[in-house]
Amino acid sequence: MKIAVLPGDGIGPEIVAQAVKVLEVLRTEGAKLEMETAPIGGAGYDAAGDPLPDTTLKLAREADAVLLGAVGGPQYDALDRPLRPERGLLRIRKELNLFANLRPALLYPELASASSLKPEVVSGLDLMIVRELTGDVYFGQPRGIEVRNGERVGFNTMLYAESEVRRVAHVAFGIAMKRGKKLCSVDKANVLECSELWKEVMIEVSKDYPDVALSHMYVDNAAMQLIRAPKQFDTIVTGNIFGDILSDAASMLSGSIGMLPSASLDENNKGMFEPIHGSAPDIAGKNMANPLATILSAAMMYRYTFADLATADRIENAVKKVISQGLRTSDIWTEGTQKVSCSKMGDAVVKALAS
Ligand code: IPM
Ligand code: MG
Repeated sequence: MKIAVLPGDGIGPEIVAQAVKVLEVLRTEGAKLEMETAPIGGAGYDAAGDPLPDTTLKLAREADAVLLGAVGGPQYDALDRPLRPERGLLRIRKELNLFANLRPALLYPELASASSLKPEVVSGLDLMIVRELTGDVYFGQPRGIEVRNGERVGFNTMLYAESEVRRVAHVAFGIAMKRGKKLCSVDKANVLECSELWKEVMIEVSKDYPDVALSHMYVDNAAMQLIRAPKQFDTIVTGNIFGDILSDAASMLSGSIGMLPSASLDENNKGMFEPIHGSAPDIAGKNMANPLATILSAAMMYRYTFADLATADRIENAVKKVISQGLRTSDIWTEGTQKVSCSKMGDAVVKALAS
C-alpha cells in the first residue's frame, strides 16, 4: 500500500507526524506500507507556486490512499483566488473524484464534559454525516464577481446533476445499512430547485434499500435539531455546502473539532483521509494541537480503503485507551485530567497500540 502524505500548512505537519508514527509502528510489525510526502496548500505555493503542484497530484493519483493534514494560513489570504491553499484542497478532491465525504461524530464518554452541550444531550452520540464533496455551489458554473448596472455583484451556482446525487445516495444508504438503518437527507427543498431534485433522487434511490428508513429535513431545522437533540440522527446525507456547515456544528457535540476524522472516497473506495478541522495558524508550531483526529483518519484509511477492519479497530481502541488514561491536549482538557503536547499524545497512542 502506498500512502501519499500531504501535511499542508499550520498545524498540519505536527499532527500528520503523529499519525505517521502510528503507521510506522504497523510497518515495523510487517505491514507493507510505503509513504511519500509532498506539499499541498500554502506549502505547495511556497514550493512550486501552486497550491496543488503537479508532482503532488501525480503522487496522490498513484497512491492507494492520501493522508492529509490541513491547508491555509493568513499569509496566503491576499493571493489570487486560484493560488490560495483552499483551492488546492478543492482541486485534489475534484481531480481524484472524491465525491463521498464521511464525517463521523462520536462522543467518547470521558469527553462529555468537554462538549459545550449538556452531557445528557450528547452522551452516547454516534452519528455519521455523508457530505457530497465534488459538486454544489462549490464547483457550479457560472461563478464570479463582475460589474452589473454600475455595481459589483458576486455570484455562484448551486448545481447538482442527478447522477451526482444518485452516487452519493448509494454510498449513504450503504452506510446506513451497516449502522442504524436510518437515513436523514438534509436539503432546502422549500426554497431551492437544486434541493427539490436532490430530494426526488433520494426517494428514487431509497427503493433499492427497503430496510433503511429515509426521512427528509430542511437544513435550518437540521442545524437546530443537531444542537437540540442530536441523538435522533443515525446517518445524515447532504450536499457539499450544507454538509460543510453541519459537520462543523456536529463536531462540537463530540467535545472538540480536534477529535473528528474524515474519509473522502471515490467510486472504488480509494480515499483521502483528513481531520475535519483546519490549519489553526494561531497554535501552529507550538506542539499543542490535538493529533487524534488525524490518527483516527488513519484508522478510517484502514477501514475504508484497505478494508482491514481489525487494524482500524486497533487504532481506534488505542485512541480510546489514551483518552481513558486521562491524557488530553489543551482543546479537550478539563480539571482533573493530564494536559499533554501534540507529540506526547502521539507517543501515548503508539504505546497504547503496542500494549
Ligand atoms: C472542510 C473545509 C474546506 C471546505 C475548506 C478549507 C475549503 O472547511 O473540509 O470542511 O469548505 O470543504
Ligand atoms: Mg468545513
